[in-house]
Amino acid sequence: MKRELGIIGIGNVGSMLLHKFTELDLIKEEDITVANRSPEKLDSLEKKYPALNVFRNNIELAKKCDNIMICVEPLNLPKVLKEIQPHLNENKHIMISTSMVAMKDIERFHSGSVTIFMPTLISMVDGGITIACHNGRVNEAEKEFFESLMGNFSEVKVMGEEDINLSQNMTASFPGFFAEIMLEFVKAASKRSKSVTDEELEHMLLVSLLGASRLLLEKNMSFEETISRVSTKGGITYEGVKVFEKMLPEVFDAALEASTGRYKVITELASKEAAELM
Ligand SMILES: NC(=O)c1ccc[n+]([C@@H]2O[C@H](COP(=O)([O-])OP(=O)(O)OC[C@H]3O[C@@H](n4cnc5c(N)ncnc54)[C@H](OP(=O)(O)O)[C@@H]3O)[C@@H](O)[C@H]2O)c1
Repeated sequence: MKRELGIIGIGNVGSMLLHKFTELDLIKEEDITVANRSPEKLDSLEKKYPALNVFRNNIELAKKCDNIMICVEPLNLPKVLKEIQPHLNENKHIMISTSMVAMKDIERFHSGSVTIFMPTLISMVDGGITIACHNGRVNEAEKEFFESLMGNFSEVKVMGEEDINLSQNMTASFPGFFAEIMLEFVKAASKRSKSVTDEELEHMLLVSLLGASRLLLEKNMSFEETISRVSTKGGITYEGVKVFEKMLPEVFDAALEASTGRYKVITELASKEAAELM
């Protein structure tokens, strides 16, 4: 299978993927074609990647490429699919960087291979998990193309579409959740600090977090085991852990309710939009 690819939508995700594919030499620059709504971004890409094929419209890209990644916002996706639909055929593998538009709605526009995936911006530093779901038309070569490509800078986890809404909170949404939780931790510590600065507090947290993740993953330690090893009964960590244990379940329940609820609303809106375009 030829390593060629078209990317529609060069925002956070599209540009991160383009950067990884070229930086790691996974696909040659001249075998990548991009298109984006606003032309300004394309102008700067032309300067940065001289051999890249930069197209000013999605239709030309759809005609040229058999492997097409679409990295636009969920509510813009139906319109993009409608626009390129006349140029899609059985040979085209469409890979969509959001699972918030249901597979059944994407299949209204393309009866061939579709992969929906949830990338993560953690992959900018070669890591994180890409969640993926293939429809029944995706053949082994297409699966291999997608999974090995993304596997170069992330761990690819294939799952059923129905599991993505919840799971993506642990992957794609995680950097945002994590940043907010850490920000609150720093703010609380900052109020009590005598001379340690916010930057120093943040640095200590980040280094500890990186180390804690490695400790648990590499030593195969569970969360429970870690808590019992670090927090001796009657000790200082133990007192803090008890507070987290009491107060966090409510916070995490509410955050997951809000996030998964919004996901459902967007999926319904995109479904309505797709139906109206038929
Ligand atoms: N950000 C994340 O961490 C993350 C993680 C997982 C999944 N996702 C999903 O990935 C998708 C992209 O997210 P993002 O953060 O990259 O969004 P973004 O930064 O807003 O980028 C979206 C890009 O799509 C372009 N676009 C919109 N409509 C278009 C059209 N009709 N034709 C061509 N290009 C069009 C936009 O062009 P303009 O330059 O005109 O705005 C923009 O460059 C979303 O569906 C999101 O839910 C994002």
